[in-house]
Amino acid sequence: MIKSVYIHIPFCDTICSYCDFCKFIKNDKWIDNYLNELECEIKSKYKGEVLDTIYIGGGTPSCLSVVELNKLFNIIKLFKVSNSLEFTFECNIESIDFEKLKFLYKNGVNRLSIGIETFNDKFLKFLNRNHTKKDVITKINMAKSIGFKNINIDLMYAFPNQTLSDLNSDLDEFLNLDINHISIYSLMIEPNTKLFIDGIKNIDEEIDFDMYQLICDKLNSNGYKHYEISNYSKDGYESLHNLTYWNNLEYYGFGVGASGYVDGVRYDNTKSLNRYLKKEYISESHKVSKKEQIENEFILGFRKINGINKKDFKSKYNIDIKDIEVVNKLLKSKKLLENEDYLYINPEYIYVSNDILVEFIDY
Ligand SMILES: C[S@@+](CC[C@H](N)C(=O)[O-])C[C@H]1O[C@@H](n2cnc3c(N)ncnc32)[C@H](O)[C@@H]1O
Ligand code: SF4
Repeated sequence: MIKSVYIHIPFCDTICSYCDFCKFIKNDKWIDNYLNELECEIKSKYKGEVLDTIYIGGGTPSCLSVVELNKLFNIIKLFKVSNSLEFTFECNIESIDFEKLKFLYKNGVNRLSIGIETFNDKFLKFLNRNHTKKDVITKINMAKSIGFKNINIDLMYAFPNQTLSDLNSDLDEFLNLDINHISIYSLMIEPNTKLFIDGIKNIDEEIDFDMYQLICDKLNSNGYKHYEISNYSKDGYESLHNLTYWNNLEYYGFGVGASGYVDGVRYDNTKSLNRYLKKEYISESHKVSKKEQIENEFILGFRKINGINKKDFKSKYNIDIKDIEVVNKLLKSKKLLENEDYLYINPEYIYVSNDILVEFIDY
């Protein structure tokens, strides 16, 4: 039974130098047409399930005007939701203000995910982000004063010439905000981004590792639980929506560039706005075989620091997880460890978890 919905709003005020996501510069006419089409797509796919999580991501959903947000939230009324709904809305600092935050709060949003990336003005400029440290503090206090208690910020690290001390300052700024969730990613230089075209190179792997270690130590010692490779939260504030993905559960994805997993079929929507507006929503879809389901269970499930529950695995696939050869091999080499209930990646190997996760491809 599907309990989660992702909706992609692909518009942004400006384009960041590192961004490889499905996004377009904001244009009011496109937004209006897009929202009309989004409504059609939802009506054509949604079968009335009661939802536990809704995640509106982007792009920059917060760059919509209040009038456009109103239109979006009228569409969202199509969904039936549970009393304990987690409703996340992605924001950029420069496009939120009191009126928009109040609107979101009144309309049931109870989790904000805010892209900050860094508090350092020099690196903000490098990333082509349009806020300052002062703006961050003002807007987060504003969100808290309106009543938002569940707030995530996205940070990045491993910028060229960034030092451990720069990163340490960013982490201090985060801790000062006193919020309960952080996603923190090492900068990836993706093709088709300004950074790539400018020939910017990734920093040395040794520094990247030291930075990762600093993040883990500092966040853990300040009461944030490391619960997924790039995610930390205070107890009880894990992202329920993202756990849907990591638990390999089904979900709807609506909007240009969104992906979904419905009735055993994984699909990717087109990244072309033109095609989307012509109702050619899906660009690729395939039925997931049992073997692929298990492969996904490993690749997604071992992202969680707790790992995979052995009994749940058995009841889902009718196979003992330890009967799977690659699992056994990784247990023997101590790259995987186990306790009574779970199998999980040895914390010493979390930094190189991608090297372990690839072992499950075509396991
Ligand atoms: C889906 S993006 C978009 C959300 C929102 N528009 C924003 O910019 O914050 C969510 C996050 O992914 C991370 N991200 C995006 N591109 C990245 C890259 N090339 N390397 C590392 N992290 C990246 C950033 O932290 C970003 O905030
Ligand atoms: S990082 Fe976010 S704000 Fe920047 S271009 Fe990408 S989606 Fe837009």
